[in-house]
Amino acid sequence: MNLNDPKLVAEEYANEKGLVGRRDAYRYADGLDAPALAIGAVLDVQPRRVLEVGCGPGEAAERIAASGVEVEALDISERMVELTRARGVNARVGDVQELPFEDESFDAALAGWMLYHVPDVERGVAELARVLRPGGRLVAVTNRREHLRELRELLGGDFPTHNFSDENGAEILLRHFAQVEERDAGGWINFPDRAAVEAYVKSSRSLWERDLPANFEGTLRVRRAPVIYVATKAT
Ligand SMILES: C[S@@+](CC[C@H](N)C(=O)[O-])C[C@H]1O[C@@H](n2cnc3c(N)ncnc32)[C@H](O)[C@@H]1O
Repeated sequence: MNLNDPKLVAEEYANEKGLVGRRDAYRYADGLDAPALAIGAVLDVQPRRVLEVGCGPGEAAERIAASGVEVEALDISERMVELTRARGVNARVGDVQELPFEDESFDAALAGWMLYHVPDVERGVAELARVLRPGGRLVAVTNRREHLRELRELLGGDFPTHNFSDENGAEILLRHFAQVEERDAGGWINFPDRAAVEAYVKSSRSLWERDLPANFEGTLRVRRAPVIYVATKAT
């Protein structure tokens, strides 16, 4: 299985259940706040107009818009677009591989945990570069290969292929951007008991097809390893 299989992506994000279920585990998290750091990296360039691709339910787009910035959000899932619009943010259904926007029409763009879902990631990144103005900033967030290592060891077996990680992220971005900086945003999830781990595993089931071993009891400390790429388009 591959995380960029369009059928898997369509089923997983037809509703917000899986995403919301996985996020629930973040109440047990410590360490750096990756979504806040990514939003900060967007706002640091004092943009007037921002594009968010793969906006999901729209939290980041809403937070960026609350700073007085014009925001366009886009997601391939109708339900995610509906949820984002409900927050009062401009949102439309679309594919990052074919952006319905003019060349050089944004100051900054955010792609949070979505490029690994894109069948032709190279084309998606090229599209993001196209719609950014010269000197514009792309903030792209993904997970390092060691993300959730302890949970993977517990569950065992192979996990789906991940086509945009710390293994190749900078290399892909550097083919379309003049400069790429890598920022850590890691920490831990301290699951307090079996029920908490089980809830997380269940909410990931359509992506991983894994069940928690029947004999697992107790607490589990699992590393989170997001990486934030800050890419600058040539001037
Ligand atoms: C893991 S969620 C991340 C949501 C949000 N960015 C966040 O950080 O919470 C991935 C999102 O990307 C969207 N997506 C997947 N492939 C896409 C594509 N080719 N173009 C636009 N959106 C896509 C999915 O529908 C989903 O809402």
